[in-house]
Amino acid sequence: MSADTGTGRGEATLPTTEDTEALGRAFARDLGAGDLVVLDGPLGAGKTALTRGIAAGLGVEGRVTSPTFIIAREHRPGTRPDGGIPVSLVHVDAYRLGEAGGGGAVDMHDQLDALDLDTDLANAVVVVEWGEGIVEHLADRHLLVRLRREPESDVRTAMWEWVSGPAAR
Ligand SMILES: Nc1ncnc2c1ncn2[C@@H]1O[C@H](COP(=O)(O)OP(=O)(O)OP(=O)(O)O)[C@@H](O)[C@H]1O
Ligand SMILES: [Mg+2]
Repeated sequence: MSADTGTGRGEATLPTTEDTEALGRAFARDLGAGDLVVLDGPLGAGKTALTRGIAAGLGVEGRVTSPTFIIAREHRPGTRPDGGIPVSLVHVDAYRLGEAGGGGAVDMHDQLDALDLDTDLANAVVVVEWGEGIVEHLADRHLLVRLRREPESDVRTAMWEWVSGPAAR
């Protein structure tokens, strides 16, 4: 993986899960408190695998998993392999936002507000799977990563760019 993640935008071909995790580790070198990462891509595209790499690159505690019932999980700061300032990671899976909790429809935006991600962002890197179109307002800019699957193969492609959010426009 020869992607230069420091230039703000780019793309990479990711033949294996390890390559996707390595891309996440490369992103982590440019991430600190207040940074928002939005992950787009279909089921199984590798969003959680990429998040695992970001977590490894930030050196945070705890295993990154695909949450079944939890919508957001906070990983405490640890030692950063890049020697940077330790920071926590909040991993959000927005796929389930808006799902009815047994009763009537739950408003997605109410659920999002209840997560207090804007408070988290003061001290953490926030990574949101399925976050496109719902979390961009939380920060002046965000790193948007689009993951795609090649049909009938393990190969994924990633395209990323830092995008100015509505707050900055
Ligand atoms: N090149 C690759 N990059 C990432 N994952 C890969 C790759 N090749 C195979 N895989 C496998 O595909 C699966 C990706 O799962 P992952 O949970 O990361 O996807 P996801 O985008 O988070 O899915 P969901 O939308 O369900 O949350 C894993 O089982 C992983 O091992
Ligand atoms: Mg996932």
